[in-house]
Amino acid sequence: MGFPRQRLRRLRQHHVLRGMVQETSLSPSDFIYPLFVTFGNHRQEPIDSMPGQYRWSVDLLVKEAADAHALGIPAVILFGIPEHKDERGTSAYDKAGVVQEAVRALKAQMPNLLVMTDVCIDEYTSHGHCGIVRDGRIVNDETLDCLRLMARSHAEAGVDLVAPSDMMDGRVGSIRDELDQLGFHDVPIMAYSAKYASSLYAPFRDAALSAPSFGDRRSYQMDPANARESIREVLLDVEEGADIVMVKPASFYLDIIRMLRETVTVPLAAYQVSGEYSMIKAGAQLGWIDEQHVMMESLLAIKRAGADMILTYFAKDAVRVLTQHRLS
Ligand code: PBG
Repeated sequence: MGFPRQRLRRLRQHHVLRGMVQETSLSPSDFIYPLFVTFGNHRQEPIDSMPGQYRWSVDLLVKEAADAHALGIPAVILFGIPEHKDERGTSAYDKAGVVQEAVRALKAQMPNLLVMTDVCIDEYTSHGHCGIVRDGRIVNDETLDCLRLMARSHAEAGVDLVAPSDMMDGRVGSIRDELDQLGFHDVPIMAYSAKYASSLYAPFRDAALSAPSFGDRRSYQMDPANARESIREVLLDVEEGADIVMVKPASFYLDIIRMLRETVTVPLAAYQVSGEYSMIKAGAQLGWIDEQHVMMESLLAIKRAGADMILTYFAKDAVRVLTQHRLS
């Protein structure tokens, strides 16, 4: 039975009915807001390639997180920009490091805000790579020791969840062992499992001053051409103890989100990365697209593909749109 009995436009006529047949919806509880934390006091440094995003010193970060939390954002994820970088990224596991201080301050003031941390040494190394460098190569197993120390220092500061983004083999198992040995068996791991060697991270590297000083990240991050390999990554991470797995970037990788959603039963996160954010911002600044509509469409698409939660720099703006709609 087709046309004229079937008319799909019938259900599109009334806005209330359109709402009732909507298959996917966004809610404030879907969002995780990434924040950059740096040293010093009273600092709010704009990031040129990410309009509306800043590097915050701890005191102002607390204010920004409180603002986001008041809007209804349930979680933040922290990235640190330390005062000193070295070959081994030692400030990544400094007890008095920027992230560790930020975790303590946020948890003290907002116990109900879920505080997550990115675990990766690239923002802390002088060469900008996500691992220890020997003879121009990024060495895997030695890097695991740094990641263990880093995750441990975050847990000791009171973090609610750690998220390793380095893409070394075996990092999830190493971190799980370390946390369990210390009694942090209830701190979950969200693994950046299918993390692609994407060109969309450029604005982030600008923000975190972490562009690699030589070479690129293709010896550890995934080839954008590969889909099946993401299943191997995810299955290994789950076996090693990942509680949540992630696809990154999001919009160019909706097929991966869909495929993984159908493959594993653990919750799935997707990261709408800096380049995705900045392209929408730039298009809107030029007057070529409508920022609010494209933002909401991009987030809806990520959810529709199968993501249970979305890391996005648009978190505050998206929540504002969602709450305005509810009131109108
Ligand atoms: C590594 C890390 C990166 C991002 C998140 N964690 C940078 C990279 O892999 O080069 C990128 C996030 C973004 O682009 O928004 N610590």
